[in-house]
Amino acid sequence: MKTTGYIAEVHYKKPKDCTQYPFNLDVLRTLDTIKLDGNVTFFVGENGSGKSTLIEAIAIAYGFNAEGGSINYNFSTRNSSSNLFESLLLTKTYKKPKDGFFLRAESFYNVATQIEAMDSIPAAAPKIIASYGGKSLHEQSHGESFLCLMNERFRGNGLYILDEPEAALSGDRQLSFLLRLHELVLANSQFIIATHSPVLLSYPNATIYSIESSGIKKRKYEETTPYQFYKMFMDDYKRVLHNLLQ
Ligand SMILES: Nc1ncnc2c1ncn2[C@@H]1O[C@H](COP(=O)(O)OP(=O)(O)OP(=O)(O)O)[C@@H](O)[C@H]1O
Ligand SMILES: [Mg+2]
Repeated sequence: MKTTGYIAEVHYKKPKDCTQYPFNLDVLRTLDTIKLDGNVTFFVGENGSGKSTLIEAIAIAYGFNAEGGSINYNFSTRNSSSNLFESLLLTKTYKKPKDGFFLRAESFYNVATQIEAMDSIPAAAPKIIASYGGKSLHEQSHGESFLCLMNERFRGNGLYILDEPEAALSGDRQLSFLLRLHELVLANSQFIIATHSPVLLSYPNATIYSIESSGIKKRKYEETTPYQFYKMFMDDYKRVLHNLLQ
């Protein structure tokens, strides 16, 4: 599959000393080059395997604010980002995105607060919240405000880097997410997503990288841990619970 997005490859230049965070993470163990084929790339892996650290470093290396938001937001609440981005080299395609958003798992709240703060400054320009559907993101539920972000703020021709977008969403709304993702893909967008969701991972033709104790591996949907785990659990949850709780 050919790259059709804005970042074609991520190269990692291993430092000499890999004993400290973030260079000791599983995700970097065998990392050299990650090809971001197609429009959608997922990273899956156990808690703590390094998905957030990696996609955050890719986002910063591309020019996003470490705290999240669009490329031109420049605010910082608490700088907890790693210096991994300094060891990454991105191969960009000839195309430039017209839109972009980096959503950290923890920082959607900060983005919402920042929009309110910027909109409270009197200015001739239209209010930022207008591009998010007009209703304060703090006055919507987590899932509602997240879908509002996808539906209203993401405009296509964009690079979207999302950390566990399923966190806010019911199963049904994860399908709504996939539908919107598909529309944005058809409108020349690229997504890089860290996820645990077997629903999101099912998106056809996505490239899936699985972070395992032996390093990072390209996997088919049915080979991923979220797919295999949820299938096993749903097929035989009584036995699983019996063994767990006996
Ligand atoms: N600033 C930091 N200093 C030291 N270690 C850190 C720091 N931030 C994260 N870590 C550790 O690095 C590891 C990878 O964290 P990361 O958040 O990238 O994992 P993840 O794959 O996104 O996990 P999850 O699925 O739980 O979101 C974790 O073990 C975490 O404790
Ligand atoms: Mg994470």
